[in-house]
Amino acid sequence: REDTVAERYVMSIDQGTTSTRCILFDHGGRLVSVTQREHKQHFPRPGWVEHDATEIWRNLEQIGPKALAQAGIGSGEVAAVGIANQRETTVLWDRHTGIPVTRAVVWQDTRTDMLVEELSRRPDAYIVEELCGLHVATYFSAPTIRWLLDHTPGLRERAERGDVLFGTMESWLIWKLTGGPDGGVHVTDVTNASRTLLMNINTLSWDDTLLDFFGVPRAMLPEIRPSAQTYGAATRVMPGVRIAAALGDQQAALFGQTCFAVGEAKCTYGTGSFLLLNTGHEPIRSTHGLLTTVGYQIGDEPAVYALEGSIAITGALVQWFRDGLGLIGTAPEIETMARTVDDNGGCYIVPAFSGLFAPHWRSEARGIIVGLTSYITKGHLARAVLEATGWQTREVVDAMNADSGLNLRTLNVDGGMTANNLLMQFIADVLNVPVVRPMVAETVSLGAAYAAGLAVGYWPDLEGLRRNWHRAAQWLPAMDPALRAREYDSWQRAVERTFDWIKP
Ligand code: G3P
Repeated sequence: REDTVAERYVMSIDQGTTSTRCILFDHGGRLVSVTQREHKQHFPRPGWVEHDATEIWRNLEQIGPKALAQAGIGSGEVAAVGIANQRETTVLWDRHTGIPVTRAVVWQDTRTDMLVEELSRRPDAYIVEELCGLHVATYFSAPTIRWLLDHTPGLRERAERGDVLFGTMESWLIWKLTGGPDGGVHVTDVTNASRTLLMNINTLSWDDTLLDFFGVPRAMLPEIRPSAQTYGAATRVMPGVRIAAALGDQQAALFGQTCFAVGEAKCTYGTGSFLLLNTGHEPIRSTHGLLTTVGYQIGDEPAVYALEGSIAITGALVQWFRDGLGLIGTAPEIETMARTVDDNGGCYIVPAFSGLFAPHWRSEARGIIVGLTSYITKGHLARAVLEATGWQTREVVDAMNADSGLNLRTLNVDGGMTANNLLMQFIADVLNVPVVRPMVAETVSLGAAYAAGLAVGYWPDLEGLRRNWHRAAQWLPAMDPALRAREYDSWQRAVERTFDWIKP
């Protein structure tokens, strides 16, 4: 770590799936200013989801300076910048022009499903999970890189020469932010690298066996660095300010929730939901459908690992209820609609829109609504939408308890959906543990700021950060155990019915 500095704020950039945000934090971890800009979602074919990485960069060029202006400060008062980002989303760009060679392929995109199936059938496929802790799935970057190299004429040769670079969003933004005439630094952090299927989870470096397996040339890959370390100084947007941290957004939330001890867990409820459990310095192998991933690495200290339960569709189901079905005008209205009835009326919705992620990992699964009778109203459907998030959390927590041997005693939550009281109560009910939300709900941004602040000595240690955590709300379990068991059984039967919809 570097010497203590006198600057007053730390900035975070949260480059998420739907928008990019800049937040300035003060020493107490309080928000000083927030700016945000959405980017366009491109759906060129069913199952395809793309972003324009240049649009995202331009958004940052606008909102970065705006965040400073809002707080009435100059970049000289910012000690460091930390970046948190949507993970796995794949950007390929030309090193000489700085222009992306294709649109970025988003983590939700399922175009690689055939390729994934083919790769999974290879006799040596077992080695992948052993080396990197992940399943071969459309979700991660390596199949996407391979697909782009296979489908874009001349791209593989350019990548092999090092003329085309790969990065997830943090890598792209750091390269742009630190760019000179020859481009900037080409780095990623361990947490983002741990989502590519290409990094060895023990050595924390690119693994030749994995590069061979997926057919990805080493020359296009960024250098893997700790999550908190000065990567370079910005030459644009905030000239002179050090870029001192990067973490995948879910790992950033774990850090922002100050889950620094083994056994501490958080779940972030956004488009999808991601439950991460701190497992300490040893990677734990899952035998129940979870992922082994890097939680964070501060400077040269040993990495901290996490078990992750990734749920693809939670908030996105509410969005679909609003935009696809038009049954509500705004997301919060779902709670009001759900409260018009006492229960789900026997109706269950399993949102397997991009297959099912943890703990099932069934890319061929497709969503269903079961239990329809003429008794069902939109109120029951609204309830079933919210309950889908609760039951998916329960499946992941069951897997987590079985894998770790630790029984989750309380769940720290954050993210947009935590504003929904009915949902938070339902989650406490079906997990049968208290659910707790902190004062600063912007834990993704806070985690990135904390890591950057630690790297430059703005915050001295983890204990100091823990003192900034304050409880804002708590939901206690109150469901009858017999009802819980019956409902869970119905949910599990509904899930099974999603598996065989698409014929092989
Ligand atoms: O793994 C995907 C995850 O990082 C996306 O998070 O909040 O940008 O939807 P979010």
